[in-house]
Amino acid sequence: MVEPPETDPAHDERIRALSLAKYRRHAERYDRSLGPTWPIRQRAVQGLGLRAGQRVLDVGCGTGMSLALLRSAVGEQGHVYGVDQSPEMLARARALAAPWPNVTLVQAAAHELRLPEAVDAVLFHYTHDILRSPCAIEHVLRCARPGARVAVAGIKYFARWLAPLNLWVYFKNHGYNGAPGQLARPWDRIAPHLAGWQLTSTQFGMGYLAFGTVRHGAAGVAAAPAADQAAPARATAAPRPSPPQPAGATQGAR
Ligand SMILES: C[S@@+](CC[C@H](N)C(=O)[O-])C[C@H]1O[C@@H](n2cnc3c(N)ncnc32)[C@H](O)[C@@H]1O
Repeated sequence: MVEPPETDPAHDERIRALSLAKYRRHAERYDRSLGPTWPIRQRAVQGLGLRAGQRVLDVGCGTGMSLALLRSAVGEQGHVYGVDQSPEMLARARALAAPWPNVTLVQAAAHELRLPEAVDAVLFHYTHDILRSPCAIEHVLRCARPGARVAVAGIKYFARWLAPLNLWVYFKNHGYNGAPGQLARPWDRIAPHLAGWQLTSTQFGMGYLAFGTVRHGAAGVAAAPAADQAAPARATAAPRPSPPQPAGATQGAR
């Protein structure tokens, strides 16, 4: 697929529409397809180095499969935010998180996310489409405080000597993503925004797991319009807030 200019909003919209259609179909059986990536998810969350009381954002949280791990890492005093554009995927995450008062789930495109506070860490777990969108990346990272830890995991092409297998990798990714290509270095648009970038290969070379810290981040978190807010506005990362509203709350619902 020929990639148009990186900042073409019409291109991003097309990708998002394709993704929405795919996850409408996948949502029901999505969780059953996750077995092989579970250890990667655990390593990604562990590598965020979360501490009790911190705030973490799960970007493209899908059905919420990382929420319990994140929640247990930040404890009752911490807060977990999840954002996903797919209503079908997010409905499942909401059902899962219903008993958890310190989880806030937001239905929104990543590039339109509004949070009431800057987060201390960000997880991108198998969010290829979001990682191909420069404006989504920049926007999401502005929702984090400078120095926030970021974990990025996903699928990539095998090394060149296994190139014939990459046709299979492409079609595997095609099933789930609006922009299934660019799997040689799928992290290349987020890595420049992060300091201390460290990447390892997973799944015999078909996956990657990387970490870094946000270079610039939030000078002040964008204030959401009153009707869209998940919780009373806390316009900047500090001072630390009290926990916001119950799990399943919709911010910027559409
Ligand atoms: C492969 S799933 C990963 C879900 C979850 N992170 C996990 O590890 O199970 C990718 C998710 O990204 C979401 N997504 C794709 N593009 C998005 C965008 N531009 N904004 C918000 N969510 C998006 C999809 O709806 C889908 O739920």
